[in-house]
Amino acid sequence: MGNIIISPSILSADFANLERDIKAVEKAGADWLHIDVMDGHFVPNISIGIPVVRSVRSVTGLVLDVHLMISEPEKYIEPFADAGADIITFHYEASKEKTADILRKIHSLGLKAGLSIKPDTPVEEIKPFISQSDLILIMTVEPGFGGQKFIEKCAGKISVVKQYLNESQYLQVDGGINVHTGAICIKKGANSLVAGNFIFKSDNISGSINLLKY
Ligand code: DX5
Ligand code: ZN
Repeated sequence: MGNIIISPSILSADFANLERDIKAVEKAGADWLHIDVMDGHFVPNISIGIPVVRSVRSVTGLVLDVHLMISEPEKYIEPFADAGADIITFHYEASKEKTADILRKIHSLGLKAGLSIKPDTPVEEIKPFISQSDLILIMTVEPGFGGQKFIEKCAGKISVVKQYLNESQYLQVDGGINVHTGAICIKKGANSLVAGNFIFKSDNISGSINLLKY
């Protein structure tokens, strides 16, 4: 099939050797680098934030695909843009009536804007914002942790979103992606796969990335 954007999630990398792990996925042909930001409020876990994005920016030319799993995302768009993000994806469940404004804000800073939904949020709720988004991220696990099991019923949303997208928009999936679940998502129309454990916990990073490229 080809042209599938692979975005390894550094949440599963070794944070004591982050540069080494980033270089490894870069060398292995990763397209983007997925950075999961968690605030302990929107999701029940805390990960990393602005200073880490800035440091990562200084060691890689990969597109930085920043996934904000935070409350009040509107407050943090500028700092993440300034730190070097290329794409900022935030959650509809955290933005609701501010969604259009946040998408506009991200665009005004010259970045690509992504909108994400959790497993229980129906596609219909984000339909009015799809044409304004560069990327739609369908979560295939409850956001908050790496290494969870792919939720099969979420895959049905991919084909629904797909029919509203044009060719320049990205349809990304995140959570429990491996060679098997990735194939399911691509078949339904996804063109970008996020994978954490499948890539970083494997003893053959380059082999795992190649397996996802289909
Ligand atoms: C989950 C994060 C994911 C996570 C994916 O809340 O958004 O990006 O790192 O990890 P895996 O691929 O291990 O499910
Ligand atoms: Zn993510």
